[in-house]
Amino acid sequence: MLGRIDHVGVAVEEMDAALELYRDALGLPLAHREVVEEQGVDAALLDVGEGHVELLAPLGPDTPVGKYLQRRGPGLHHVAYAVADIDAELDRLRGAGLRLIDETPRTGIRNSRVAFVHPGALGGVLTEIVEPAAGH
Ligand code: CO
Repeated sequence: MLGRIDHVGVAVEEMDAALELYRDALGLPLAHREVVEEQGVDAALLDVGEGHVELLAPLGPDTPVGKYLQRRGPGLHHVAYAVADIDAELDRLRGAGLRLIDETPRTGIRNSRVAFVHPGALGGVLTEIVEPAAGH
């Protein structure tokens, strides 16, 4: 079962400029910053209530976010729902006939476990489910 919305992912060209907007101008506290080599991104997590905004800057043009920026430009990239048990949730979504990008969870930011559902399965919205690490 999906819990709250954990974060909204935003694709950005350049992290320092994005932090000037989201942290300094909007005033969201920076909670975490991490390079996730496996996903080819420099990621920043900013707090907003119990949820987050996740800024994603590509490590190179041939990464998923780099390709996304070339196709679509900067902007909203994905919506992420928090789940308590990502393995059970993946089974449930697969059973519901949704096309998955990740058949098994991978490691996300801040030691979370994440998996993506194909945007074609959900009306064009790239959707992530995330099982946060203990304490988050
Ligand atoms: Co995300």
